[in-house]
Amino acid sequence: MIHSKLPNQGITIFTTMSKLAAEADAVNMGQGFPGFPIDTKLIGLVEKYMEKGWNQYAPMSGVIPLRRAISQKLLSTYGRNYDPETEINVTAGATQAIFTAITALVNEGDEVVLFAPAYDCYAPAIQVNGGKPVWIQLHYPDYSIQWNELKKVINHRTRMIIINSPLNPGASVLSTDDMEELQKIVAETDIIVLSDEVYEHIVFDGRQHQSAARFSKLAEQSLLVFSFGKTFHATGWKMGYIAGPAPLIAEFRKIHQYNVFSCNSPIQYAIAEYMEEPEHYKYLPDFYQRKRDYFLHLLEGSRFRWKPAAGSYFQLLNYSEISREKDTDIAIKWTKEHRISSIPLSVFYPDPVQESVLRFCFAKEDAELEMAAEILREIK
Ligand SMILES: Cc1ncc(COP(=O)(O)O)c(C=O)c1O
Repeated sequence: MIHSKLPNQGITIFTTMSKLAAEADAVNMGQGFPGFPIDTKLIGLVEKYMEKGWNQYAPMSGVIPLRRAISQKLLSTYGRNYDPETEINVTAGATQAIFTAITALVNEGDEVVLFAPAYDCYAPAIQVNGGKPVWIQLHYPDYSIQWNELKKVINHRTRMIIINSPLNPGASVLSTDDMEELQKIVAETDIIVLSDEVYEHIVFDGRQHQSAARFSKLAEQSLLVFSFGKTFHATGWKMGYIAGPAPLIAEFRKIHQYNVFSCNSPIQYAIAEYMEEPEHYKYLPDFYQRKRDYFLHLLEGSRFRWKPAAGSYFQLLNYSEISREKDTDIAIKWTKEHRISSIPLSVFYPDPVQESVLRFCFAKEDAELEMAAEILREIK
């Protein structure tokens, strides 16, 4: 007899849709991974460090050159100094950072506030640790947060609030005003903010990413999570990091040392050297904005409606003028019948919300965007 810790959890929608896309030989705009190669310079650096013999266990918290490079980047980009020794930890992707942070800090009976639509790894991590997810729902097309709603749900059991900007899947970004509101609400409480900032460099139309690191009071009670997979088009490497105040990182490390211990050594050295040139990530807003604009330009004349993504590499398309069917049904049907796959937005909510919206990942080669748009224009 198995006593499942997550009795109602199935296989994630990403796995299901990707499998379906492969079976139908569909254009896969569902799963969020870049469809183009990584920089050969970065590959060369990994080779260099492998050949040098840096192939054994890295230190538990990450190799020092990488932690220094991260610290430098956080300081120059967001103006906050994180001590590489005590305030930064390298992780096996953002997902592991999030799971470990929740495991380290959420106790039985604690409440964790999160906003739907939410990336799928937050709620199970809370539940496995005996915590209770408390949801606030956001809606198409803005996915903006009404901060009064947050004030209403927080109480003495609230241990953590999870934010994600730029938002996957909403493609919205939090503004300075939003962050100041949040800072005010959590001031004088011992609530920890877990800020998922994996799309930090993918913000459009002149916006600036409002990292929790920019707000000094807020940063004192926040853990920030980042992903090299998103930044360097290398999602398969599963490399990321977490930054925050020393007491929180100390708790993080108590768990991290037993669930991964340490991360891939040669890749850490390679990334540290690659980060010496900020151009390697500073080009990203323009690069992805061009992709977003090209995709939307190609969709002109289709029957979809949209609001251009403000951040992330996802574009949401509303199909309410085409069909009244549920988004999960439409996503499956179009993968099979039109050979185009996407992710239905309702799966990112605890209780499926029907807003006739699908998520498309535009981190693809132009030729793939052209193929996708051609199919989508034909759907009447
Ligand atoms: C919002 C968000 N957080 C975290 C992750 C996970 O990042 P990683 O691949 O580094 O674990 C993703 C990946 O899609 C994401 O979209």
